[in-house]
Amino acid sequence: VRALLLHDALGPDARPDERDVRAQIEAVGAALAGLGFESTLQPVDLDLGRVAREIEAARPDLVVNLVESLAGEGRLIHLVPCLLDALGVAYTGCPGEALLLTTHKVLAKRWLVSHGLPTPGWYEADPTGRTAVREAGRYLVKSIWEDASLGLDDAAVVELRAGDDVTALLHGRAASLGGAAFAERYVEGREFNLALLEGPEGTWGLPPSEILFDTFPPGKPRIVGYAAKWDPDAFEFRATPRRLRFPEEDGKLLDELERLALGCWELFGLAGYARVDFRVDEEGRPWILEVNANPCLSPDAGFAAAAAEAGLSPRDVVERLVAAARRRTPRAPS
Ligand SMILES: Nc1ncnc2c1ncn2[C@@H]1O[C@H](COP(=O)(O)OP(=O)(O)O)[C@@H](O)[C@H]1O
Ligand SMILES: [Mg+2]
Repeated sequence: VRALLLHDALGPDARPDERDVRAQIEAVGAALAGLGFESTLQPVDLDLGRVAREIEAARPDLVVNLVESLAGEGRLIHLVPCLLDALGVAYTGCPGEALLLTTHKVLAKRWLVSHGLPTPGWYEADPTGRTAVREAGRYLVKSIWEDASLGLDDAAVVELRAGDDVTALLHGRAASLGGAAFAERYVEGREFNLALLEGPEGTWGLPPSEILFDTFPPGKPRIVGYAAKWDPDAFEFRATPRRLRFPEEDGKLLDELERLALGCWELFGLAGYARVDFRVDEEGRPWILEVNANPCLSPDAGFAAAAAEAGLSPRDVVERLVAAARRRTPRAPS
């Protein structure tokens, strides 16, 4: 059986978050080999015609989709599963529609709100004018399309007063945030990730994990910014450990996080695997920050940690992703 492993084509100046795809390729490639697959790597860039021709020539039994950006743009990643659908090839992970709806964080928030799922309030830029703040308070200026905490540092936390023009602020910061930004109400409190994995009997939540900020000095924003994720020499990297074991009194909250994450799975039509990021406010109310369709599979990322806590090896995870892909019979190629 042959697998074609699609991944970002890395340029010579790729950032650490982009280079991380190499660790994913290695982990997933080893798991595929263990499952008896012969796998070939296929870098993907904006030349989708070439990619289509190469897929058609290789005639793989399965495509493993690890693409996280096209030519450095998160906003284009849904094109890859859309292309695979058009070619009628079975592939791992989420369909194009689910990727588009979740990668655009504001689009995802609109869907969450309209289906009664909790997500913090936000302001968007108005391309034709200004946006006056109605509710003063603390906000986080985030990228609409990019993940990996791109552009997130302490300065991304801002205090807005009623009447302030958010459009001007967002336009000013867009360049460092992948081209488009929004301001989301800052949720002070605990941070959790809930990973979901599809199995033959349905999708279930892997053990939840919490990011701890215990050693952050008072006044420093408790966020998992770019340095916390990608700079091993930074204070934030060392000071944001993950925990996967919880006292009994957290049980109700953790069940609620799983219920909400499964609600996201249904709402967005996710497939294979996903990870939902939450903050829990000081009153104990959970808020959905974002839905990660096709989350990172590096050995040191949250998904692998949650799977390991559930007793699943990387090979077990890949085996489930492959099985989920095969359950979705692709449209016959024309
Ligand atoms: N509304 C918010 N309130 C507090 N912290 C937030 C908020 N949104 C994001 N963060 C912090 O920023 C990090 C990255 O944000 P997230 O929405 O998960 O985007 P991504 O991981 O795709 O970059 C989160 O892990 C969290 O620490
Ligand atoms: Mg996140």
